[in-house]
Amino acid sequence: MKRLLITATAISLLGLPLLANASPKQDLEQFRAYFFKKFPGVKLQEFSNGIYAIDPVRRDEWQNIEEFPPYEAGIDAGKALFKKYGLAKCFKNGGKGIKQNYPYFDSKSGKVHTLVADIQACIVKNGHKPIGLKKGKMAGIAAYMAYTSRGKVQNVVVPNDKRALKIYNRGKTHFYAKRGQLNFSCADCHMYSSGQMARGNLLSPALGHTSHFPVWRRKWAKKTFKKKGKVGPFGGFGTIERRYGGCNKQVRAKVLNKGKKWKKKQHPEYVALEYFHTYMSNGIKLNGPAVRQ
Ligand code: HEC
Repeated sequence: MKRLLITATAISLLGLPLLANASPKQDLEQFRAYFFKKFPGVKLQEFSNGIYAIDPVRRDEWQNIEEFPPYEAGIDAGKALFKKYGLAKCFKNGGKGIKQNYPYFDSKSGKVHTLVADIQACIVKNGHKPIGLKKGKMAGIAAYMAYTSRGKVQNVVVPNDKRALKIYNRGKTHFYAKRGQLNFSCADCHMYSSGQMARGNLLSPALGHTSHFPVWRRKWAKKTFKKKGKVGPFGGFGTIERRYGGCNKQVRAKVLNKGKKWKKKQHPEYVALEYFHTYMSNGIKLNGPAVRQ
């Protein structure tokens, strides 16, 4: 960790974060260019595979797991819940193959909608109790919706509207700002130090980071097993909300979606982060859900 800390600090002093006043389109070009230079030969689409795009040994292991994917039962159970909650009515195209358009800016309300928030709104509209946003049922429903969107190209739109740009820039600031006792930004680990080790973990590039969510993680499955004595169809899953909280925690920063209030409702800071972070994966085909460590 110490070595990583030194490298990250040294580089972020030299490296220019994205220009504060650049347009989203310019940001995206620079973001991609950074990773293409850092990982020559890795094609844009490959970045959807996280650390497996840059580490051949781990990639072999992972491909073996993906042959009999542990998330399959979760997709089926997620589909059943999708029906039970009557979700098809609330979404375009009956909710199939639409994840690539999320998160989107709604010019009427001036707000950004994420997929989990729209699922939640529909659940409540149909007279059911709201559910948690980070794992369990929600992750299962999102996994089913991600599955029907496989192969669709990520297409987040940031219109030239002050309100949309404000949310986008808030997310961008979160991504580049140092935080927590360890004083690390998302960019320190997932840009400048991507491809390096941190406490036994290989750090993934942030390009393509959102393409495969929700993820099925062995770590989360183990955690569920320890707690409940079984994994069940949803036990290994987590949405990107869950990951944001986890990555903030790693640097001992405040976890914004912790506690009762944020269990069923998203913190606006993470909505903004998701808007920016997903925009940076525009042009990449969706491949969720996927297995991770
Ligand atoms: C101290 C380093 C560190 C910081 C800072 C950090 N992360 Fe992570 N992150 C990790 C590690 C370690 C993993 C697991 C290995 C991997 O996939 O990179 C991870 C995984 C992820 C993943 C999952 C990647 C995948 O392929 O499934 C996402 C998404 C992510 N981080 C986003 C973020 C965001 C957004 C921030 C800023 C709020 C952030 N991280 C800050 C260390 C960090």
